[in-house]
Amino acid sequence: MKKMKAVIPAAGLGTRFLPATKAMPKEMLPVVDKPAIQYVVEEAVSADIDDILVIIGRNKNAISDHFDSVPELEVRLQQKGDHGRLERVMKSSDLADIHFVRQGEPKGLGHAVLRARTHVGDSSFAVLLGDDLIDERDPLLVDMIAAHERTGAAVIALMEVDPSQIHMYGAAAVDETDTDGVVKVTGLVEKPAAEDAPSNLAVIGRYVLPAKVFEILERTEPGKGGEIQLTDALQELAAETDGPGVVGVVFGGRRYDTGDRVDYIKAIVQLAADREDLGPGLRPWLKEFAERL
Ligand code: UTP
Repeated sequence: MKKMKAVIPAAGLGTRFLPATKAMPKEMLPVVDKPAIQYVVEEAVSADIDDILVIIGRNKNAISDHFDSVPELEVRLQQKGDHGRLERVMKSSDLADIHFVRQGEPKGLGHAVLRARTHVGDSSFAVLLGDDLIDERDPLLVDMIAAHERTGAAVIALMEVDPSQIHMYGAAAVDETDTDGVVKVTGLVEKPAAEDAPSNLAVIGRYVLPAKVFEILERTEPGKGGEIQLTDALQELAAETDGPGVVGVVFGGRRYDTGDRVDYIKAIVQLAADREDLGPGLRPWLKEFAERL
């Protein structure tokens, strides 16, 4: 079977992080010592994907530069004998075959995904949002790819959230299936008020989509916020009665929305506290700090 390609949309304006994102994309904000988007690329690679298309917007050269090699830096680290850092610096340019395409204007996630059409062609593909981190200890994408291969359906990732939070997400109406942790998606609503939400299952930033979604996106009108919404195209697939439709893989692991300031801080603290090199220095201080709160 041909390997699946991945698409990482990273062309949003990142308004929640202004002014940090005035001249720098939010996907380049460091999470401990790597930019958020590198975690996302590594996640795709560990799901056996080696061809990645990043959708970039204004100020996004920083992203392509990050995945390029920097010979002068490499030579300097080599001369200093700093092999650990050299390896880490080279890793980002060796990860996968990474391509870039621009989204001229940020007209929404659906519009960004449509920019991948030429590169992806008529195969199914994965979409990983560049500001949404899934902890590598809690794999998700491999299960989604397996669900797609089994059913032919578009596969979305769902996570239970507190009802008071559902207005920040797409919410899914679902039916049970025979497979544990996999649900049939019967409808989707973008950012509903708590009282209108069909469930407290929120759509998070991982998708495995059939190429057919491009045809739908091509004619999807701007929806909520004047943007072309991926959710609207998925809703159309979910409503189809003569196709495999949409299924959801329910994720119970650790996930950080680094586009949100509080979640971003939590991601840094949690990942650093768990690391062997930084945890021992950080954890005692964290305990003491928490006691003082
Ligand atoms: P968000 O809605 O979280 O991104 O989009 P945003 O608009 O940049 O964030 P705020 O609300 O202004 O802070 C989810 C993902 O889709 C990408 C974003 O880069 C992010 O990874 N996106 C969004 C695009 O690539 N293009 C768009 O037009 C919109």
